[in-house]
Amino acid sequence: MTANVIIGAQWGDEGKGKVVDLFTEFADIVVRFQGGNNAGHTLVVEENGVTQKTVLHLIPSGILHRNKVCVIASGVVLDPGVLLGELDALAQRGHTVEPRQLLIASDASVILPYHCALDIARETSKGERKIGTTGRGIGPCYEDRVARRAVFVRDLLDEPSLREKLESNLPEKNQLLAHYGAPGFELEAVLAQMLALGVRLAPFVRETGRFIYDEVHRGRNVLFEGAQGTLLDVSLGTYPFVTSSHTTAGGVCVGAGIAPSAINGVIGITKAYCTRVGSGPFPTELNDEVGEFMRKAGHEFGSTTGRPRRCGWIDVAALRYATRINGFTGLAVTKLDVLSGLERVKFCVGYHDAQGNQLDEPPMDVARLATLTPIYEELSGWSEDISGVRVFDDLPRNARHFLRRLETILGVPIVLVSVGAKRAETIVLENIYR
Ligand code: IMP
Repeated sequence: MTANVIIGAQWGDEGKGKVVDLFTEFADIVVRFQGGNNAGHTLVVEENGVTQKTVLHLIPSGILHRNKVCVIASGVVLDPGVLLGELDALAQRGHTVEPRQLLIASDASVILPYHCALDIARETSKGERKIGTTGRGIGPCYEDRVARRAVFVRDLLDEPSLREKLESNLPEKNQLLAHYGAPGFELEAVLAQMLALGVRLAPFVRETGRFIYDEVHRGRNVLFEGAQGTLLDVSLGTYPFVTSSHTTAGGVCVGAGIAPSAINGVIGITKAYCTRVGSGPFPTELNDEVGEFMRKAGHEFGSTTGRPRRCGWIDVAALRYATRINGFTGLAVTKLDVLSGLERVKFCVGYHDAQGNQLDEPPMDVARLATLTPIYEELSGWSEDISGVRVFDDLPRNARHFLRRLETILGVPIVLVSVGAKRAETIVLENIYR
């Protein structure tokens, strides 16, 4: 059996969608285990000679492969309207999703309209101190889970249960919304809306934990698809500028209900540079023409919110931290082509703090992180267009050196290099399912 986890090694948007899509070819089952529609994977797929772009926020990208099973496990927070919208969009492209292709955990938490309203109201009230959330209700929904008042997917199929939960939750939510000057919600309207969505979701809903266990132990290849990135983990990231779920490898155990011992490999995805959306310290950020170059060449605008992403040099010290806490067994480096044309490229290998101490990993204390000065190694760049390269040895010498240096510092082999957005624009060094 082979169960691999794919994890973003930075602040999200590392190009996981493409890597997941490539490895899905060899997997039988693809599982999302945390986050919600704050994520966004842009998939660029050639179909009948036509290039098609598909953005998926909730449904695993494996859905484009007809013979795979995609699972939305219990650690996910699910906005039913968004999920059904994605199913409709896929159907319009000729990908009608059958219930055998998509399993939704009956105990995934539901994002209700008041979660989104609260997310937005709180962010607005924070002004300059806002987190920069996606406004999709992710934090408020996870809060309810921890506070033991979650509405589960199965409640959408059970009117008395949903009514009871809304009767209990809604008065408090409406008071909170009133506190922020935002309009409240009417119980019967929310109930009717959610029950209608439940009817459409019903064919896909089941208990997914046992299914995943059985499939792993039947020797099937399973791919656990992480959303967001390591530094956005609610416990291990740059708190409070994080999302509200466990984005690191440990999250797969509680989010999918699988034991650590069942996992064979953890692949960390990193861009050849670094980006961040939303607020929070970013030591290698470039507010200059090089940052602008990266944003343009890398099309660095959020696939969920359209916001321009902040860009900077690759932070290998932060990747060292990500490697330590996730236990990466392989690395996938994406968007190497974006650096083509830069005379010099930089690698942050550590930091100096205000007292002149040298650090080899970033502290997750954001006040301290904001005061650090990166220590850079400078490498020579390359000018060639590398999007046509399919074999590692055909890369320009300096690009090879860049990748080898990354492997050496992190002590993790590179299994894949992406040199363009299309599926074919990839150098595979090792198939993790072989
Ligand atoms: P939330 O997940 O919407 O609560 O947002 C919390 C933080 O995580 C914000 O800084 C978001 O920009 C960031 N974030 C959430 N999802 C993603 C993602 O998929 N990629 C990158 N950043 C994300």
